[in-house]
Amino acid sequence: VTASATIRVPLGASGYDVVVGDGLLADLPGLLERHCHAARYAIITDTTVAPLLGERMLANLSHVAPCTLCTFPAGEWNKTREAWIDLSDKLLAAGVGRDGAIVALGGGVVGDLAGFVAATYMRGIPYVQVPTTVLAMVDSSVGGKTGVDTRLGKNLIGAFHQPRGVFADVATLQTLPKPQVAAGLAEALKHGAIADEAYFHSIVAQRERLLARDAGALHDVIRRSIEIKVAVVQDDEREQGKRAILNFGHTVGHAVEAAAGYQLLHGEAVAVGMVVEAELGKAIGITDPGAVHALSEAIRAFGLPATLPAGLSGAQLTQGMASDKKARSGSVRFALLQRLGAMAKSGSAWTRTIPEDTLAQVLGSLSS
Ligand SMILES: NC(=O)c1ccc[n+]([C@@H]2O[C@H](COP(=O)([O-])OP(=O)(O)OC[C@H]3O[C@@H](n4cnc5c(N)ncnc54)[C@H](O)[C@@H]3O)[C@@H](O)[C@H]2O)c1
Ligand SMILES: [Zn+2]
Repeated sequence: VTASATIRVPLGASGYDVVVGDGLLADLPGLLERHCHAARYAIITDTTVAPLLGERMLANLSHVAPCTLCTFPAGEWNKTREAWIDLSDKLLAAGVGRDGAIVALGGGVVGDLAGFVAATYMRGIPYVQVPTTVLAMVDSSVGGKTGVDTRLGKNLIGAFHQPRGVFADVATLQTLPKPQVAAGLAEALKHGAIADEAYFHSIVAQRERLLARDAGALHDVIRRSIEIKVAVVQDDEREQGKRAILNFGHTVGHAVEAAAGYQLLHGEAVAVGMVVEAELGKAIGITDPGAVHALSEAIRAFGLPATLPAGLSGAQLTQGMASDKKARSGSVRFALLQRLGAMAKSGSAWTRTIPEDTLAQVLGSLSS
């Protein structure tokens, strides 16, 4: 048994603890009592996680407070305003008031959507994140970004709303399909690549244990990834814009995700995105060629894609990135790798633009 670890997210009055452990959820009532006391709880989850964990949690929590389970259909394509309406209406119908709190139980889709419901319901009620995918544990449950996708791009409607606590129980990962485990580890590789070379290599070295869902190996990775994400978000307060380095692989990744019609998992799209963006950095003389090689080898070792999905053209992607940025009213900018463990700065900025012909050339060379 691995002892649980607690990482503090120091945000003044909105600071909170991230607790990582094996078998943690057995004491969810105690965790809620300490971190998010409320008169009643609404568990929000998706149709896959509800029978695996949601129903048991409902029974468990009902002993300590009135509790309801609200479910929406699983899948990234349901991270929409329609689902937000439906869930909000369910909370109203269940009589959840200002003294209620939300438990977001599931992957990143549940976390983003339930967090956005919590941010807006009666002008904002407390919530906790109970992530159940590797991706949500290493990345999306921490940081307070909530929201939904629109046809013009991902996460375009949303709010910052910090959770009262994040409780990551690695035992819940035993039912997670292998491709989902690998996709989540793509974000962990990202954390290593942007901030900690030794961590990057240790993820690669542990790949068999990680892919076999070994609780100890997963625990170590989740803890280190959260530490890195928390440190970057904290630095951002001093160094405006540093948080952008967490977007490594995402400028291209989001475009791949949207263009592939969500056939690819978020982490898979980010994996390709990291390879493309590393190649872009190499093409303009910023990224160490050795790092590009190591990164793409690591991605392949996890069975993740290192080339663009078949049938997806470079022009389609360029267009996707441009319309996403237009929707956000900015230019297409990239956070670029300098070497493994360090991101490149451009003056005081952590992102830069790439000449169109370079972009077209690199995208062309990575098409399959
Ligand atoms: N807010 C942020 O800072 C942030 C950061 C990174 C990613 N994200 C978002 O996270 C989302 C991706 O998250 P995800 O990959 O966790 O997707 P997801 O929530 O869709 O989960 C993936 C699939 O696994 C299933 N599942 C979840 N837990 C399970 C378990 N324990 N056993 C079996 N099946 C389980 C889900 O039902 C779903 O079908 C994207 O929408 C992305 O934009 C947000
Ligand atoms: Zn991501």
